[in-house]
This record gives sequence, C-alpha cells and structure tokens, in this order.
Amino acid sequence: YLNYRVPRTRKEIFETLVKGLQRLEYRGYDSAGKTLNFTDICLIKKTGKVKALDEELYKKDSLNLDEELCTHFGIAHTRWATHGEPSALNSHPQRSDKDNEFVVIHNGIITNYKELKKYLINKGYEFESETDTEVIPKLIKYIYDNRENDSITFSKLVERVIKQLEGAFALVFKSRHFPGEAVATRRGSPMVIGVRSEHELLTEHIPVQYNSGDCSLSDSSSNINSVGDGRAVEFYFASDASAIIEHTNKVLYMEDDDIAVVTGGKLSIHRMNRQAGEDPVRAIMTLQMELQQIMKGNFDAFMQKEIFEQPESVVNTMRGRICFDTKKVVLGGLKDHLKEIKRCRRLIMIGCGTSFHAAVATRQILEELTELPVMVELASDFLDRITPVFRDDVCFFISQSGETADTLMALRYCKDRGALTVGVTNTVGSSICRETDCGVHINAGPEIGVASTKAYTSQFVSLIMFGLMMSEDRLSLQKRREEIINSLKMLPELIKKVLSLDEKIKAIANELYQQRSLLVMGRGFNYATCLEGALKIKEITYMHSEGILAGELKHGPLALVDKHMPVIMIIMRDACYTKCQNALQQVTARSGRPIIICCQDDTELTKNAYQTIELPQTVDCLQGILSVIPLQLMSFHLAVLRGYDVDFPRNLAKSVTVE
Ligand code: F6R
Repeated sequence: YLNYRVPRTRKEIFETLVKGLQRLEYRGYDSAGKTLNFTDICLIKKTGKVKALDEELYKKDSLNLDEELCTHFGIAHTRWATHGEPSALNSHPQRSDKDNEFVVIHNGIITNYKELKKYLINKGYEFESETDTEVIPKLIKYIYDNRENDSITFSKLVERVIKQLEGAFALVFKSRHFPGEAVATRRGSPMVIGVRSEHELLTEHIPVQYNSGDCSLSDSSSNINSVGDGRAVEFYFASDASAIIEHTNKVLYMEDDDIAVVTGGKLSIHRMNRQAGEDPVRAIMTLQMELQQIMKGNFDAFMQKEIFEQPESVVNTMRGRICFDTKKVVLGGLKDHLKEIKRCRRLIMIGCGTSFHAAVATRQILEELTELPVMVELASDFLDRITPVFRDDVCFFISQSGETADTLMALRYCKDRGALTVGVTNTVGSSICRETDCGVHINAGPEIGVASTKAYTSQFVSLIMFGLMMSEDRLSLQKRREEIINSLKMLPELIKKVLSLDEKIKAIANELYQQRSLLVMGRGFNYATCLEGALKIKEITYMHSEGILAGELKHGPLALVDKHMPVIMIIMRDACYTKCQNALQQVTARSGRPIIICCQDDTELTKNAYQTIELPQTVDCLQGILSVIPLQLMSFHLAVLRGYDVDFPRNLAKSVTVE
C-alpha cells in the first residue's frame, strides 16, 4: 500500500489492512498477522480471528497511531496452517531476523523448504517457526548479506529467491533496507493488484520489463512502463479481489514468476526472460463486483444467504445463454471450440469436493446428450493415478474459486498432454480461468460461505447447458432437449417452492441435531445429491455423514441401519423409482425410520416414512438441483443447533490453494 500526497494516519492504514483481511475471512484461516510502519518494521501476530489483531495493536503504546504518513507500506495475512500449528510464531509475516530486515507474507506451500532450511542452518541462520515460509525471508537475507555490490535492487533479490523455490506461492516482501518499496511475486497461487488513483490512469496495460533478453518490449509505443506517476496513487496486493474491491475496481492479475515492484509511487512488472507465446503486457481491468454482493444482508450467515440466492443465481447462470423460444443454447466461451469438442474421444470432468459432485450429478445427462463417454475424476486421484490423457480428449476443470491447487495441477497435466482444456469457474480472472483454452463462467456471484451451495447449482446448470449446446443438431434428441429447456425456465420458481420448506426442514433438524451420524441414500440422477448432502452435513455440523448409492446398500452399508441410525432417502419419480423403493423396504425391514425426500403427493412413499420432505417435480436430470436444497438447509440448521460457526467450519478453507 503506497500513497503519495494524500497523507493517511497510521490508524487508517491499519484499519484498511484489517478490513481487507476480514473480506478474505471466507477463505478460511486460523491465525493472522501484519507488519506496520515504514522505517522501523513492527510485527503484530495473533491466533484466532482477525479482530484479535486490533486489541494487540492498541496495546502498543510505542506506535503513534495518529501520525500522518505520505508513503506507507503495510502487509497483512491470515494463515491456514499447513506446516506447524496455528500460533503467533508460525503466523505471517515471517522475518529474516530479530531486526526484521526482511519480512514476508506467503500464500501457498514451499515443497523444497527442508533442503533450503538445512542449507541456511548450515550457514548460521536461526529459525524460530515451524513454517515452510520462514526459509524465504532467511534466504533473501542470505542473498543480501552475500551480495556482490551495493547497487543490487530489491526486485533482483526477489528474483534470485524465487529461482530457488519449488512449490506454490504468492509473496509480498518488505525490507528496512528498501524503505518505501514493496515487491510481490507469485507462482501457482493467485495475486491481484488493485490500483486506486485520483486521476485518470494514463494506461490500460503495462508492458512487462524483461531483466534480460528482449528488452525492446519494456518501452512500448506509449512509453508507459509503470502505473502511477507519484500523484495520490495507492496499490493493493491481494489473493482475491474481494479484499480490495471497496477501494478500487481497477485491477491487474499477475502471472507466474512476475515480479511487481512499487517504488516512488509507481508500479512496474518485471520478469527474467520472455518465453515464446508469452503476453508481454498486463492489462488493467475493471471489475464489475459490488461490495454489497459480498455482504451478508439480512441473513445470519453467508451460507444461508447463498442458499436463498439460488432462484436468482441460476437465472444469472442462464442469462443471455438460453433462448427459451427457439430452444437455442449458446455458451459464448465455448462456441468457437464446439466442432473440436464434438470430435473428441471422450470428455473428462475434473474437480474436487462439491465441484466434483456437480460432475457426478450431470454425467448421465451429458452422456445422453453428447453421446460421448464421460469420465468424472477427483483431481487429486486423477493425478495420483497418472491417468492417460490424449490430444483428442476434452478435459473440463470445475472449480468455484478457480484456484484449487489439485484442480489447477490436473489442468496443467492435461494441457501438457495436448488435451483441449475447458474451465467451469465462478471467479473471473482466476488461475483456472486464465490457463484453460476456453470456458464457462457460472456467474453465481461471490460465494463466501466455506460450504459451497449456490456454486453447485450453477455448475450443475452450466454443465446441462453445455450438453444442450452439444445436442442442438441431433434430431433424435429434440424432444428431450425441449423438455429440459422448458424445465430450466421453470427452475427459479421451483427453487423458491423448495426454499419455502425451510421451517419444516428446521423442525426435522431439531429432531436430528444430537445424533452422531446420518446416512443419505439415493441412486441414479440423485446419487450426487447424496454425496453432496453428506459433504455439507459433515463439513459444517461435524457429524459423521455418508452419501450411499442405494444400489450398494446390500453390499455393506445396510449393516449400519437400525432404529437408531437416521437415514435420509431421496426417492424421486424417475427411472430408479422402483429400485429406490426396494432400498426403502430394506431400510424399514431393519426398523430404520427414514426421512424421505420425494415428489409432492407421493402417498405410496409417505405411508412408509418417518418424515417426508415433498418437492415439486421437474425433469429427471434437473431434479438434483431441487433435491440438494433441503440438504443444504438441513446442514445449515443442524450446524446452528449444534452451536457451530456455519461460515467458518473448523480446519477448512474456502480456497484450497495447497495440494
Ligand atoms: C464443500 C466445498 C469444497 C470445494 C472444493 C473445491 O462445500 O466447498 O468441497 O468444493 O474445495 O473448491 P473449488 O470449487 O473452489 O475448486
């Protein structure tokens, strides 16, 4: 954060940093820290909530909070523990030494930290934390201490540091040797730079300055190779635009190995060498995200708000893409690749957690509409298996955040093997978005609750739209397409009807919340609903919950069923109806007392049920969008009744940027 000619008090700067961290709270963390001040670096670190930093700050009498500063650089970070427990010592900023010569905040994981640490310990450096991150400030100090000449720049030091690092990182450095200067870099972890200026920016992009090789690109025709001219410019570095959107909507996204330098009120981007095909400029974009979009409104929790937003979010996913009169579906980001996709050997759908469930949920209808084999893959397992991928495969990467490390690695893996890569994400400008050949934005709006809800239903709708687009010229499928498109039109109204069952679901939750375990069973189009419902329950209520394919019941899970085990069964009027009824009988025969999610007025089922949640009926392949909502609501109410923080489940992060 640098600011010229408009002085800010130290307190204001501190508050800006705290606010930014709070906006990122949804990503999940277990400790927080920051450095303040300009010539004398002051570190403040605490475990727990960001708010705890406030209290710590006001305890420090030595900080003159009312002092006005024209140039200031503060860094702040929330940590989600990977190496070392959550503690003040392990939280960031990490430092080079007791005098804070270099301090660093880091998002990601350094995989070769053990080797680096050993090397630095041999050189006499003492480590105080258990983190992988601490090797970074120590390494930069080591390089600084052993510099060949005094004119070495801060960015050159950082460049040398990242040459030694393996893994994923987004880093911001601060040093008392380079007062007023900020250096940031990234590889594999996201980093956005916000630019706030009191005057019109003179450029819409900045050229990358290459430290060696093709230098001519550093002075492009406009001769502007930095942003800011020293007059009232502020720069914000963040992992995610929600931390900075209230200050500016002008942003640029850093690419892997970019080194961003702010000095003298100007921002410039540096790299070592220009690689073939590399974009030599970084565009300054205008984000359309509004602050109130990321606020909680009248709801008690973001997750609850997001569940209730679904009538709207699915409309936003479909907006401008489906013509309900002509039954035409066009996904702008895919249309130029449609021919290639139609010729492919198979479709591979890859994701993690909820995003993987969206692939499971739509697999059957995609097979039907595309007449192609569809594989669904958990990104981590896909990589573990070193799955064969071919040039004529089309690989979809489904990710709400667009930053999930496992999914991103799977994307790079498929790209290396020449497959066409398609992103299905909710975050414009995210790594998956930028690295795929083409894609679909699901447009669900920012999802802040750690447990994914509206992103799931929008991913679901997006994948169905893809199937519809692929089948437009298949005569034999026209009736089926029409039925689906007509049902999509009705979807928002039907979702509203499901949401109106909230009180009933809350009452059922009231009967269940003290249980230790909960099974969710179904099959066919609703198998994914079981997996997703069980995931929602376990992640925010901490109850054991399992999604069970009803067809597998007699192959093992039936042993769990007795009169004490709560069982939720999803039995909709589709091709699996009779088979699901068989499963129901197997459960009731073991004195199980099932809670059945079924279609309205299904008297056949209601008489065998302990409780029923009756849903409006829609076409079989969309029913999963309606049937997951009672489970989203159920998990929310169970978590509240059990006294847990719905939006910040323990041990989980919204954006899982580590493998
Ligand atoms: C569950 C949940 C996670 C995510 C998973 C992938 O509610 O949110 O299972 O779905 O971590 O995240 P994205 O979709 O951002 O790739």
